Amino acid sequence: KERQQVQEELLKWFDVSKRTHLPWRKEWDGTLDTEQRAQRAYEVWVSEIMLQQTQVATTIPYYDKWMQNFPTIHDLAKADIEKVNKLWAGLGYYSRARRLWEGAKKMCEESNGVLPSTAKELEDKVPGVGRYTAGAIASIAWGQQAGTVDGNIARVYSRMRAIGGDAKGKSTIELQWKIADYMVPEGRPGDFNQALMELGATVCTPQKPDCKHCPVQKSCLALKEVKVTHSMMKDEP
Ligand code: ADE
Repeated sequence: KERQQVQEELLKWFDVSKRTHLPWRKEWDGTLDTEQRAQRAYEVWVSEIMLQQTQVATTIPYYDKWMQNFPTIHDLAKADIEKVNKLWAGLGYYSRARRLWEGAKKMCEESNGVLPSTAKELEDKVPGVGRYTAGAIASIAWGQQAGTVDGNIARVYSRMRAIGGDAKGKSTIELQWKIADYMVPEGRPGDFNQALMELGATVCTPQKPDCKHCPVQKSCLALKEVKVTHSMMKDEP
């Protein structure tokens, strides 16, 4: 089946091309105990909030410094906002830092600092966590079969499924989410979602996509319909 082929090819590609040096992408063999999982949920939450409006390379030193100062969600909850803002200085969009801090306090009061594990609860209960971040945390930290859509993933699916029309239109966005929830596999959903983000960032780029090195080129309708023409591709005249 097509879906299974896309899942397998993407995960196989991710295994060999993922950036392993990302500090929030620690090896995880699925044997973490409850406490370690809760800790990972905190780490994924912080990294995904930082990554929302900031490039990966810029995020890394901020993430490391943040974790040195607030190694657990309880440390963050106890901190004062001045220190939180100071550690955020330079990242921009300061409301993100305040919401992390507010979320930490709320989670420590309500659930001993453990973030919810479903996308719906994450979105409903954690300040600053929207639909994208909820899907990312649920899949990456908790292994839930939850799809997610950010700018990169939307572009990948738009091309793969040849979705035309207004990219920012409500019906297009809803369709993206339907596809994302349909495509995400039961096993390794977090790796699958991160593979899509990474594919969009490195191969299926806005300009000059590198279709020749794309792991899902056989399943791509845009390529098939030559909506990505040769002259648009990387390394073609
Ligand atoms: N951008 C947003 N989330 C990301 C992640 N988990 N890995 C790489 N890039 C990302």
